[in-house]
Amino acid sequence: MPAMTSLLIAIDGPAASGKGTLSRRLADYYHLPHLDTGLTYRAVAHELIRSGQPLDDEAHAIEAARRVDLANLDKHALSAHSVGEAASRVAVISDVRRLLVEKQREFARQPGGAVLDGRDIGTVVTPDADVKLYVTASPEVRARRRLRDIEDRGGHADMSEILADIRRRDERDIGRADSPLRPASDAHLLDTSEMSIEAAFRAARAIVDGALAKRNGA
Ligand code: C5P
Repeated sequence: MPAMTSLLIAIDGPAASGKGTLSRRLADYYHLPHLDTGLTYRAVAHELIRSGQPLDDEAHAIEAARRVDLANLDKHALSAHSVGEAASRVAVISDVRRLLVEKQREFARQPGGAVLDGRDIGTVVTPDADVKLYVTASPEVRARRRLRDIEDRGGHADMSEILADIRRRDERDIGRADSPLRPASDAHLLDTSEMSIEAAFRAARAIVDGALAKRNGA
């Protein structure tokens, strides 16, 4: 691994594109702290579901966003497919985004750098990141991956329903007015449709190492 002082990596992409696994692998490899920003939106949705509030209740959503604690995100409770779907509904509320983005930026400001993944990291949260990746895969490939995840955890789901969910989530994330999902103009695109996670990790590492070498004047 090349010598470095600080490294901020921003990773964006649609649901089940493989960006989560890739982010964790990169964070591990470059010894950086990692934040899955999707969990912060999921935490807000989960709190509304838990307390029986509708997902479009802005006042409760804003209050829940204010209380999100990055050190206490219960990944297990938040990982359900249905919570992801609910998260994309609270994620359209601008005041929720503003509060969560503030916390995410604070995480990104750690002295050695960090890896953050989400939908608007390269465009809004850390537009000054050293490296930006935009990870995609076809909706069918992503639905198949999501189905495998659910089955690996002992659950059952219907492929056509998962695919419909993925398409609906893409539409909501790409179509919203505030911070829509899109690649930053300086992002490196990585289509993982035909790639193993190992191949995607190698490709991502080559991009990061290339950016570091350029920064170090190599
Ligand atoms: O990445 P994950 O599937 O956990 O994200 C759940 C939802 O949270 C996304 O569909 C999206 O609507 C929202 N989100 C967002 N901005 C981020 C991360 C997630 O709007 N940076």
